[in-house]
Amino acid sequence: MGKRVDLRSDTLTKPTPEMREAMMSAEVGDDVFGEDPTINQLQEKMAELTGKAAALFVTSGTQANQVALNSHTQPGQEVLLDINAHIFNYESGAPAMLAGVQLHGLNGRRGILTVEQLRAALRPGDDHYPQTGLICLENTHNRAGGAIYPLSEIVRISEFAKSQRLPLHLDGARLWNASIAAGISLKEYCRYFDSASLCFSKGLGAPVGSIVVGETDFIRRAHFYRKAYGGGIRQGGILAAAALYAIEHHWPRLEEDHRRARYFAESISGLPGIEVDLSTVQTNIVIFQVDPAVISADDLVGKLEEAGVLMFVFGENRIRAVTHLDLNDEDIEYAIETFRSVLPSA
Ligand SMILES: Cc1ncc(COP(=O)(O)O)c(C=O)c1O
Repeated sequence: MGKRVDLRSDTLTKPTPEMREAMMSAEVGDDVFGEDPTINQLQEKMAELTGKAAALFVTSGTQANQVALNSHTQPGQEVLLDINAHIFNYESGAPAMLAGVQLHGLNGRRGILTVEQLRAALRPGDDHYPQTGLICLENTHNRAGGAIYPLSEIVRISEFAKSQRLPLHLDGARLWNASIAAGISLKEYCRYFDSASLCFSKGLGAPVGSIVVGETDFIRRAHFYRKAYGGGIRQGGILAAAALYAIEHHWPRLEEDHRRARYFAESISGLPGIEVDLSTVQTNIVIFQVDPAVISADDLVGKLEEAGVLMFVFGENRIRAVTHLDLNDEDIEYAIETFRSVLPSA
């Protein structure tokens, strides 16, 4: 088989031999009884890292967000979030199915909402309207190209949410990346939120698993919903061991992914028919625009794939490329060379 450089997603990574070793030697117990020492260790570590009272290990980022939504809201309430949020677009309509809430998508600027937008979206206290029950933010923002939420805006939104007695949830699937790129600790980011979800199975390279963090009562409710959604895993310490390994060994190296994403973006920027807004390339995701008069996004992705370079078509005339643990400098060079060679005027 020829060379293959897969830039479709940071969820594609395979556990390294060292991570598999850590999984093999994990101490386990029945986590539904609260007796898995490795899961307990991970939950304690995450509570400490995020400065929250408690943490709950769950199977996926989607499950993390959904148990959080359910734990914060009542059926029929409305959740305010950016219209490009993962929860709004890619969680299979679960908020309506599971928590029975409706989502109110707001037009954020590159995924970033303002207090003014949120204030305008609050419903009047009149029985005709749904009650606003929760605000969700996403950091980094996937559809906005891995953009980092400015802390100053988070602080303002947090103060606003408190003033309205509204809980604030963070979809921090890639908060690890934001933290490394912005030099802001997880604890500092999380202190402005009532709850947060973080994934181990994206840039961190673990095969499975996410975490929800928050206050003790919130986590107690989340524990109930996790069980209800079939997320009570028994000897899950094998998975928690991968997450613990990933935090220690793969979190600090995310800056390599960020450097490679930047290099890739700069290298393809300005090629015929390709437009990259370099200001949006802040972490490990590069989203760029293709001029259909030169080549269609589908054709470009198809040609790249023939040469072993994989990317996603991500909306009209848009393509997404993501750097991750399983790619090195040579892979990125190969992707850039291939890119140049498949464009029509090259
Ligand atoms: C921002 C964000 N939130 C949540 C998720 C959901 O994670 P999972 O695929 O583990 O359900 C993703 C997955 O890509 C994501 O990008």
